[in-house]
Amino acid sequence: MDHFLYRDGALHAEDVAIPEIAAAVGTPFYVYSAATLTRHYRLFTEALTPLPHLVCFAIKSLSNVAVLKLLGDLGAGMDVVSGGEYRRAKAAGVPGSRIVFSGVGKTREEMRLALEGGIRQFNVESEPEMRALSEVATALGVVAPIAVRVNPDVDARTHAKIATGKSENKFGIPIARASEVYAEAARLPGLRVVGIDVHIGSQLTELAPFEAAYTKVAELTQRLRGEGHVIERLDLGGGLGIPYTRSNEAPPLPSDYGAMVKRVLGGLGCEIEIEPGRLISGNSGLLVASVIYVKQGEGRDFLILDAAMNDLVRPAMYEAHHDIIPVTEPPPASPTQPFDVVGPVCETGDTFARGREMPLLAEGDLVAFRSAGAYGAVMASEYNSRPLIPEVLVKGDHFAVIRARPSFDEILNRDTIPSWL
Ligand code: LLP
Repeated sequence: MDHFLYRDGALHAEDVAIPEIAAAVGTPFYVYSAATLTRHYRLFTEALTPLPHLVCFAIKSLSNVAVLKLLGDLGAGMDVVSGGEYRRAKAAGVPGSRIVFSGVGKTREEMRLALEGGIRQFNVESEPEMRALSEVATALGVVAPIAVRVNPDVDARTHAKIATGKSENKFGIPIARASEVYAEAARLPGLRVVGIDVHIGSQLTELAPFEAAYTKVAELTQRLRGEGHVIERLDLGGGLGIPYTRSNEAPPLPSDYGAMVKRVLGGLGCEIEIEPGRLISGNSGLLVASVIYVKQGEGRDFLILDAAMNDLVRPAMYEAHHDIIPVTEPPPASPTQPFDVVGPVCETGDTFARGREMPLLAEGDLVAFRSAGAYGAVMASEYNSRPLIPEVLVKGDHFAVIRARPSFDEILNRDTIPSWL
């Protein structure tokens, strides 16, 4: 459920009409609903209650500091994967004690940043990383809390580019080698083992792969405890999928997920951490664009928008589907026709949808891409020298620009021409 509904003939974000925002900030732009973000975060905390737990928002999915502050103020932790994300979490006022640091290639500089600024735990993914972290921590005179990310060799049954839990993927250490790796971690002076971490992929639409992975984690917990390790936290990663279409998909709900976690892991006496990104942010955001031209092609009509693949890359990169709806509510039973919905970028891949049944739109009409809150703005680029588009946050009847559109001067001033040229 989200808070983007038609009211008085126009799509609204909570109590604000989208055309009002478009008139104020220009198109294209992203708009997020505070009520939807809040609701989705709470669904997870409720689903895991009464287990001790921390919901760490995967900020790679939507990293605007205003959004992080909103979630952080609700009590959320943050899952970060770079020094930049760590800085964003801190800038949003989230204490280090609620930040977990994931990622397969943390640099020593990033480790130092987090150890100095405060960190709940590092999710380490290899032995060389463990050794580097121990050295950095020892040099700073501190001990780094760690969980080792294990690769459970489970098929997440999602898009190949976002599946991470098979043994051929670059993530984690093979679960079969866990004893050996934990033994080394225990010997390294700068590390303190606190738990186990696992993440098998993103946009999972079934519980079975999670359950298979978590069952292996439960067995591993017992085994490692038997070997003398303190396993007090289990970080279960993110990955629960969302419905991208109104009709045919019904991924499991956070409550179903929570019930399964309690059943499989609830008896171990561990604190549970989860790292959801998409389920919190995905359906909390829209990308709003204008129709530049309606072009008649050979046997097909094109809707050319002012948003492009550089603003929302998911359709080009993963063949992802986003519902695209008119901002002005079409009267019941109004005619539709198939359009290829495209952006202005000079690549055929800059296509959002092919043969999509849409109302008869005209130049200047506004459209909204649904489910664009996750992996939308964060994956945008300036390809074709198109400025990054603004982000807007709505709460009730308030809206504010939370990232402004840069001016062309700002963009041009980042380039420098060397004096010797
Ligand atoms: N934890 C770790 C270690 C991750 O790698 C990810 C996502 C998450 C948590 C959050 O997963 P979520 O709950 O959002 O599924 N750009 C792709 C998705 C990439 C996901 C990468 N890792 C897309 O647009 O579909």
